[in-house]
Amino acid sequence: MFIPVTPAPCIAIETVSKAFGANPALRAVSLEVRQGEIFGLIGASGAGKSTLLRLINGLERADSGAIRVEGQSVAGLDGADLRALRRRIGMIFQHFNLLTAKTAAQNVALPMELEGTRSRAEIAARTAALLERVALADHAGKYPAQLSGGQKQRVGVARALACAPSILLCDEATSALDPETTAQVLDLLASLNQELGLTIVLITHEMEVVRRICDRVGVLERGALVEQGDVIEVFLDPRDGATRRMLHEDSEPLPPPAPGERRVRLIARGAVVEQKWLSRIMREASVDLALHEGRIARIKGEAYGRLTATLSGGDVDRAIALLRAEGLRVLESAA
Ligand SMILES: Nc1ncnc2c1ncn2[C@@H]1O[C@H](COP(=O)(O)OP(=O)(O)O)[C@@H](O)[C@H]1O
Ligand SMILES: [Mg+2]
Repeated sequence: MFIPVTPAPCIAIETVSKAFGANPALRAVSLEVRQGEIFGLIGASGAGKSTLLRLINGLERADSGAIRVEGQSVAGLDGADLRALRRRIGMIFQHFNLLTAKTAAQNVALPMELEGTRSRAEIAARTAALLERVALADHAGKYPAQLSGGQKQRVGVARALACAPSILLCDEATSALDPETTAQVLDLLASLNQELGLTIVLITHEMEVVRRICDRVGVLERGALVEQGDVIEVFLDPRDGATRRMLHEDSEPLPPPAPGERRVRLIARGAVVEQKWLSRIMREASVDLALHEGRIARIKGEAYGRLTATLSGGDVDRAIALLRAEGLRVLESAA
């Protein structure tokens, strides 16, 4: 008998709730982060994103629910076990959190010195290799004040990797950076994810960040996880109002289609996006098409397109059948 093997999740969060006094920060949140993926957690300010990260690395305790990191329950850990957990989890922050009185190299070396398991020579060699990896070999002796925002965050990345964690948590790590520097830091994270098999949880309020490097995404709104899935699916077909607002899709509702008209949403991904199916099929079925909304973009290198349109006249059923035969997803909606 064939028994499919589902890999154990790297981080498993099960119906976790957390309140600060009367203020619920997380409400029964369940999500799984898989080994080796980049998981984006998106939500507006105050949605509970940072609280969730602090629960994962044991800085806060959940009121209820369970959190397991690499199979180990976080709730019961303290002392040496908690420190061991935190060494497996690196963190980077919006404002870098570097020690201003220490050089880039000293900042990177510090977690290894605190860990106390490596010789001084080993720490020096590893610090140099990490700074080299984040393209800062020439800046090892500089203080944070002498570095640009992007350079400071790359020191932050090198420091987070110092104790060779298997998980990296990023709390708005690019929110203080300009778009070009943001792209550089995100690309660095994506290449470290590939090279080291590092599992990354990236929290952000920007969809663009998710679109650039994340495999899957969860949407938090006022403490509740309202949507979770593959990035491409969530972008193509967001289910929740909060997600649509974040994608700037909370436009005016359309008037309902007139009798005889059909409102459809067409979703294409991959090679089919580039092809000339639309005009050919409308012609073939003698159907008129009024376009309401559309977008074409790339997510992690794959093209996708989406159109909302009203079909009328001719043989609309045949047009829809032909669109589906072409490999498009056709969702019918009343509005
Ligand atoms: N230490 C704390 N004490 C009291 N309230 C807190 C604390 N940390 C977070 N909160 C509250 O919990 C909610 C979620 O906060 P947070 O997790 O920081 O959101 P986000 O990171 O998504 O902006 C907010 O209402 C915030 O004010
Ligand atoms: Mg936060």
